[in-house]
Amino acid sequence: MTNKIKNIGVLTSGGDSPGMNAAVRAVVRTCVFHNVGCYGIYQGYQGLIDNNMESMNARSVKDIINKGGTILKSARCLEFRTTEGRKTAHENLIKNNIDGLVVVGGDGSFTGAMIFQKEFNFPVIGIPGTIDNDIQGTRFTLGYDTALNTVIDAIDKIRDTASSHNRLFIVEVMGRDAGHIALNAGIGAGAEEILIPEENMGLDRLLESLKRSEKSGKSSSIVVVAEGDKTGENVFEIASYIENNLPYYEVRVSVVGHMQWGGTPSCFDRVLASRMGVFAVESLLENNSNKMVGIIDETLKLFPLEEAIKGKSQINENLIRVSDILSIYCLLYTSPSPRDSRASRMQASAVKK
Ligand code: F6P
Repeated sequence: MTNKIKNIGVLTSGGDSPGMNAAVRAVVRTCVFHNVGCYGIYQGYQGLIDNNMESMNARSVKDIINKGGTILKSARCLEFRTTEGRKTAHENLIKNNIDGLVVVGGDGSFTGAMIFQKEFNFPVIGIPGTIDNDIQGTRFTLGYDTALNTVIDAIDKIRDTASSHNRLFIVEVMGRDAGHIALNAGIGAGAEEILIPEENMGLDRLLESLKRSEKSGKSSSIVVVAEGDKTGENVFEIASYIENNLPYYEVRVSVVGHMQWGGTPSCFDRVLASRMGVFAVESLLENNSNKMVGIIDETLKLFPLEEAIKGKSQINENLIRVSDILSIYCLLYTSPSPRDSRASRMQASAVKK
């Protein structure tokens, strides 16, 4: 390992996600293993600007692998978007003899990292940490698996009351731009309908679907909606639209909210974070920069930050079909599904999946 780097800084930025602590622990301990100094930078990029950082050793990160949130704190830092802010950040890194940076965060954090890297030719490696799983170049982001389990747990509980009271629940989950959480948790929790930003199902088609559900004898239902879905203005609007048009449904809204960001990381997220942390440090020590660590087919790879922030990771369209088949659609399917165009589009590839 050609090692010009003497000290590495690590920060967590943007929305916190379960597994960030495990990643910080892995970065610090891999630095110790390779005899490189490590600095924990507090409050994301704000800590770089405020010179809020401290040297860490193996013991600094004890007992954190199992903790949600981030011991380094996190922030969305507006000052880092200015040239002046980034200049101050760079001066502080130099002052502390830090010559490599690991940034754990989502696309906003990576955009900042990329600009900073270009301006100062400063070595940066990103670790994708966001519950939304919407980063290109990696199959999984840190926190996504835990968030899915949090949502499943919440919906299981909601289903108990939905079926006891014969109610229809609209459950909003996070996903401003991406439907990964809604789609996967929706299937995992057996939702009747799943609405995601990637497609606009339309309120009328949703009604059709619910009518079908009612006809099939279902007395309670769960509709999972990603917050970025465009079918209605918001979940409350969707709820009143349903109540106005299908009065036999008693509708309630439940917003899972920020509990999706927190909680004990799942084993999957802890292992992924540990692997990514080791890989990030070793990548820096091998003189890589401006890359993100991604996992594709069980293998860790480096992916250009520029590509990672260009677009959103694609949803697995076959999951939509799976959801359609397993919910109401199979119960009395005689006419085209409410999602007929999509269903038939996927019919062709069905046998392959
Ligand atoms: O960006 C990740 C995310 O989970 C989005 O899906 C969601 O809209 C957002 O965070 C909420 O962030 P905030 O609480 O800062 O508005």
